[in-house]
Amino acid sequence: MRKYLVIGNPIEHSLSPLIHNHWIKKYNLVDSVYEKRKVEEKNLKNLIKEIKGDEIVGVNVTVPYKKLIIPFLDELDFSAKETQSVNTLFKTNNKIIGYNTDRAGFGDTIREAYPLSNVSMEPQPLKGKCIFILGAGGVTSSIISALKGEGADNIILSNRTKEKANELRKLFPELEVLDWGKRPTICNIVINTTSVGLTKDEEVKIDFSDYDKSFHKNLLFYDLIYNPKETVFLKKARLRGNKTMNGKMMFLNQAKYAFNIWTNIMPEIDDDVIKLLD
Ligand code: ATR
Repeated sequence: MRKYLVIGNPIEHSLSPLIHNHWIKKYNLVDSVYEKRKVEEKNLKNLIKEIKGDEIVGVNVTVPYKKLIIPFLDELDFSAKETQSVNTLFKTNNKIIGYNTDRAGFGDTIREAYPLSNVSMEPQPLKGKCIFILGAGGVTSSIISALKGEGADNIILSNRTKEKANELRKLFPELEVLDWGKRPTICNIVINTTSVGLTKDEEVKIDFSDYDKSFHKNLLFYDLIYNPKETVFLKKARLRGNKTMNGKMMFLNQAKYAFNIWTNIMPEIDDDVIKLLD
């Protein structure tokens, strides 16, 4: 049996098994299974042993271990190094490599969503665009790294706990940090990476009412949260006439790249798999 895992704490709500087992079936990997496992920090070492001993083939890592797992690994790929965040493990030549597929997953999504016009073939679509990021949690470094990869050179970050935003500046010195509650006059893209909105009716208390489409063309509001499908942050943006997008495609894209690392198959993100998350 080829066993795959997603590890985290808590882990009950992870939808990764649903997606990966769908692909395992679709691509006929008959002897494979993907499970979730709640892991305590003190047991990370044992997990590594299980991978070394081929008891586990591949692992997805989620909150709160994306950074904590790093000291246990033999190598990091470029994205994991740049973001100091690992969400996928795989053994090659007896070395356990840490990958970050969140970065590429978000990169795909933002390329699709922006620019909003017909110049999407541009190599650096985000050059010169103002991007405002809310939050400085575990996934935010992947978002920043992906944006940079698309040419972004004007990223403003705001987090309730300012020290955490300043910590991210150690990885990305070019970031501008703004006090929580403040906002830039106008930006082209606003991204919520906080957990505010996971509970229905919970709202980021920043007023974007003048980010009105009739005044400012091509504004995108992006929320990493996909359950609920439309947070208050996105709903207000939609009602203002801004373009909106939730984190569903990013979640599927990061899963796609992890599956590819483990199996060499690039799974298709079709309606069937998209519907699994509805
Ligand atoms: P992760 O485990 O993904 O790293 P986290 O560190 O808890 O998650 O990050 C969640 C993000 O949501 C953080 O940016 C957090 O802000 P703080 O660093 O100040 O904690 C943000 N967040 C959570 N609840 C919030 C709230 N009520 N208002 C503003 N930001 C909030």
